[in-house]
Amino acid sequence: MSDFTSNFWSYYIAIMTVVGLVFCAWLLVAVGRDKGKASETTHVWDGDLTELNHQLPNWWRWLFWVLLIFSVGYLIYYPGLGSFKGLGNWTQTGQFDKEMAALDNQTRPMYDRFMAMNVEDLAKDQQAMGMAERIFQNNCARCHGSDARGFIGFPNLRSGAWSWGGEPADIEQSVSGGRTGFMPPLGETLGGELGVNAVVAYMRSLSGLDHDASLLLRGEILYEDNCAMCHGTDAKGMKDIGASDLTDGVWVHGGSERAMAKVVEFGINSDLADGDFAMPAYQGVLSRGQIYLLTAYVWGLTNR
Ligand code: HEC
Ligand code: HEC
Repeated sequence: MSDFTSNFWSYYIAIMTVVGLVFCAWLLVAVGRDKGKASETTHVWDGDLTELNHQLPNWWRWLFWVLLIFSVGYLIYYPGLGSFKGLGNWTQTGQFDKEMAALDNQTRPMYDRFMAMNVEDLAKDQQAMGMAERIFQNNCARCHGSDARGFIGFPNLRSGAWSWGGEPADIEQSVSGGRTGFMPPLGETLGGELGVNAVVAYMRSLSGLDHDASLLLRGEILYEDNCAMCHGTDAKGMKDIGASDLTDGVWVHGGSERAMAKVVEFGINSDLADGDFAMPAYQGVLSRGQIYLLTAYVWGLTNR
């Protein structure tokens, strides 16, 4: 309750709460004072049938007193009266931090041990990989799949084809800093459908896929002029900017002619492309120890 923007609402709520409690107390005193056994009300039916008003049973009134006293005590100890913090200094975040700190103390020695190991050994450590598996399922599986084989647009982490590099340091950087490869829309630059199809035919020839051979020459020229600066003259990609290797037969965004043509025409993560294929940064979301465990886990998927 410390997020009031002005004191007015804080006082308003505090006063309303206190007035409400005082009213309840007054009501309890008032109904208790009337010692008459049962009084008649003004409700009369059928000429002489009157409704009686019985006094509330004592156990019922006492229950309310107990509740009332409890709420006063509660409001003194816990935050509840406007922005008054309560004598107990309890906060939601404080409680959370306390629980996290307790957990941290429990797991710290374990993480210290893991951090002291190299990635190769860590990837063979059963306990560490059990923990990494759970962290992966909780944080990564929704995009990369529970088996890490990915989906269209979300890389298969078992393929061995790395856009950003498969060394432990590369993987750690991918996870902690995030990655967003940008591929511009090139449909217009290539002169429309024919140019797109030609470049797609050329790309497919590089990885031995069926293609229209009559378009190859045109495709190769268009490739050199428009694609080589990012994907390389040998088409093996460029890890610094996450440009895919176009010769390895792994197609993150789909390996059909249509899927490739769509990528070339509209780009990836460009204004024209539908879908946002970005790898979020986990620095600050996961601890350094957790990221290190994941690095070993992901590295281990293809290197164990
Ligand atoms: C919101 C979806 C999403 C989540 C969640 C996500 N990723 Fe990714 N990840 C991606 C996308 C999309 C890419 C490809 C980025 C690119 O190349 O532009 C990627 C790329 C990567 C890469 C680089 C692959 C390469 O080819 O070099 C690694 C490693 C990776 N993710 C690991 C993880 C791990 C570990 C987690 C969990 C902590 C995770 N990802 C969570 C979407 C996600
Ligand atoms: C400015 C640099 C840049 C240029 C120019 C560029 N690309 Fe790309 N391309 C990328 C990046 C980066 C990715 C990976 C994007 C991602 O996955 O997030 C990519 C991805 C692709 C993919 C998807 C690969 C897969 O695994 O599914 C294809 C196909 C592709 N590019 C073809 C081309 C062709 C053909 C050209 C030229 C007509 C071209 N690119 C020009 C940067 C570029």
